Amino acid sequence: MRASDIIIKKRDGFELTKEEIEYMVLGYTNDLIPDYQMSAFLMAVYFKGMTDAETANLTKAMLYSGDILDLSSIDGIKVDKHSTGGVGDKTTLVVGPIVASLGIKVAKMSGRGLGHTGGTIDKLESIPGYNVNLSEEEFINQVKEIGIAIIGASKSLAPADKKMYALRDVTGTVDSIPLIASSIMSKKLAAGTDIIVLDVKVGSGAFMKTIEDAKKLARLMVDVGKSLNKKVIAMLTNMNDPLGYAVGNNLEVIEAINTLNGNGPKDFTDLCINASAELILASGYANSLDEAINLAKRQIDNKEALNKLAELVKAQYGDESYIYDPNKFAKTPFIIPIISYETGYIHSIDALTIGNASMKLGAGREKLSDKVNHRVGIVLNKKTGEYVTKGETLAYIHSINKDNDEVINMVTSSFIIEASEFKQELILDVIK
Ligand code: URA
Repeated sequence: MRASDIIIKKRDGFELTKEEIEYMVLGYTNDLIPDYQMSAFLMAVYFKGMTDAETANLTKAMLYSGDILDLSSIDGIKVDKHSTGGVGDKTTLVVGPIVASLGIKVAKMSGRGLGHTGGTIDKLESIPGYNVNLSEEEFINQVKEIGIAIIGASKSLAPADKKMYALRDVTGTVDSIPLIASSIMSKKLAAGTDIIVLDVKVGSGAFMKTIEDAKKLARLMVDVGKSLNKKVIAMLTNMNDPLGYAVGNNLEVIEAINTLNGNGPKDFTDLCINASAELILASGYANSLDEAINLAKRQIDNKEALNKLAELVKAQYGDESYIYDPNKFAKTPFIIPIISYETGYIHSIDALTIGNASMKLGAGREKLSDKVNHRVGIVLNKKTGEYVTKGETLAYIHSINKDNDEVINMVTSSFIIEASEFKQELILDVIK
């Protein structure tokens, strides 16, 4: 077999065999195929697509390129949750503790931020002391002991994805449905859990801009999971504005804590309750979605989920007093209101622009930009669908710098305000 023949075959729109796909993936992972040939291959896939069978074979080749975590020594059902990448997405910090507080085992390896989106690992690291680098043995022991561990992804799992993702990032081949499906599923399947809930984001701030593309991606991922005897549930959720109000690591941790105290934003709370309920139902802890929803709400009301988050933080060497007193996160010296120039209904808040504006403020680099762990980022004051009048505050910028003109313009321009009323659904579909 030759890589150049396989590239030509895909370039000309033919279906590749399992062996040809394995040859490319394993050859590249083992440094036998150079970047320039893999780049050409990825671009051919980008333009010609893949059949469902090819995508399944690509996922499996990437999955078997490294280790598969063996969680069999942990009793009970092990679950995982993954979002395709959102702005203001701190769902794991709430869903993990809710389900773990019921006895469902949460064994989660998370990523860092990609592009304009923040990663769960960065958010957890913003809690002083929290260690994301546990060994595999420590990770498994912690799940056995307290029912939850959240750490950074191990380098030995799906190494093909790490190499291919880095190449896709610089060759314009990220937003391809078969490449995204195989990237996400190879990592999730390698992490060894029984049940995976996927939050597939749809909208301006997401990889999938349309519901049709999001459904296609979701269906592919659910089917690949099924073919390997895993239960995969994909929720399609709206990303036409950031999730919740807060964007920026510390600010998002605070919002997650507020949510676990029963004071979270409505959209974010609804998403967390529903994602938790899907995991509770799939794990057999409830007989219906309604029962599962009530259980999830109960774990917030009785504070057991909040206590589980504190237990997680403490187990991973973080200072859990921040969970009970989030005021300990230092305020930034400058908190600047963003004022509306218009009157009307908010039709969208561009999540991509908000994510980029937050990065410009230094969100995601809090520890580098300042020794004090400041609450850098953006807090929305209004959400899509709400009515605003000229002069009202749309959002606040939390900055450690005095000069914020560029960010102020970005945040102001991200609000689309029209005269007509506007309503949007948060959960667009659930595919199982
Ligand atoms: N998230 C991933 O892990 N991979 C992709 O390709 C896109 C989003």
